[in-house]
Amino acid sequence: MIERIEQLRVQAETAIAGASGSEELEQLRVRYLGRKAELPRLLRGVADLAPEQRGPVGKVANEARQALEAMIEQRVAQLAQDELAHSLATDTIDVTLPGSPPQPVGRLHVLTQTTRELEDIFLGLGFTVIEGPEVETVHYNFDALNHSPTHPARARSDTFYLDEDVVLRTHTSPMQIRAMEAHPPPLYVVIPGRVFRPDSDATHTPQFHQIEGLAVDQDVTLADLKGTLLSFARTVFGERREVRLRPHFFPFTEPSVEVDVSCFHCEGNGFLKDGSRCYLCKGEGWLEVLGAGEVDPNVYAHVPLTEANAPGYDPETVQGFAWGLGVERIAMLKHGIPDLRLYFENDLRFLEQFG
Ligand code: PHE
Repeated sequence: MIERIEQLRVQAETAIAGASGSEELEQLRVRYLGRKAELPRLLRGVADLAPEQRGPVGKVANEARQALEAMIEQRVAQLAQDELAHSLATDTIDVTLPGSPPQPVGRLHVLTQTTRELEDIFLGLGFTVIEGPEVETVHYNFDALNHSPTHPARARSDTFYLDEDVVLRTHTSPMQIRAMEAHPPPLYVVIPGRVFRPDSDATHTPQFHQIEGLAVDQDVTLADLKGTLLSFARTVFGERREVRLRPHFFPFTEPSVEVDVSCFHCEGNGFLKDGSRCYLCKGEGWLEVLGAGEVDPNVYAHVPLTEANAPGYDPETVQGFAWGLGVERIAMLKHGIPDLRLYFENDLRFLEQFG
């Protein structure tokens, strides 16, 4: 038996000495010292031996086991050191070298930038920003906004119909109704969003963006509208801007106005210092920026009284203004962008010029 133990020991020692990795060492440990291995089994059987054999056999077997354990431990440490030395010698990183060129960083689309800038202005004036559906019913897009049954904007040539009663909204104004349905007065909201019309040329794209504004309270007049828009115009186009209201027509405002801002390129003169005509305002001195007006009482009448908006919008007691502006147009004026289609072609040479 002692002979067998010596034999096992020599065999194991040779294998351990020749092991080339920590995984292999672990396998050898299991093979020679694991629970089911021969040497530990022999050790466990020592108690069953004849009394005079127990001492010598137990001693040899114990020594063998201890020697093998020590040897494995030493080899493991040795291998770890070898591996470290190897990686130190080969994995040389020069931390003083310049880094790889930085990846280009994205930026917000100029229309997103403009929308956020405008939202911030109106937030600062006490408005809340809300959003609404791009797919609308004819009720919200036209009927509740006081469009007569024959209003030309309803034509198939001016509106994308999904079916008889469902359209892609042609403006953000349907949100006037939805906002009043959902909230009681006083109400001060702006609604940015995508709108759609079947048009396509240098000044029209089938999809564009508006920011609707709605202020409903008591005694909110056209003068309040003018003051609000003057503040907006001066923030966007410069402190010296003036605002002009011209009579216009929209079915859902009465009176309705078109709002002009004095031209920031020629300071409202219509011509430049060298006497040439201002290209931006075409010599007018004014830039048309949006449509607006006092909310038509008929519109309030289309807003049902609900639990959500109580006491509701009684045309006899509430009064307010609304506007709708084109984000593309504001950004075009501000940055001198000549063609609307540039916004949607995703040409980086254009987009990278902003922000
Ligand atoms: N919805 C109108 C348009 O798209 C703009 C507008 C909004 C006019 C609110 C008056 C009041 O042309």
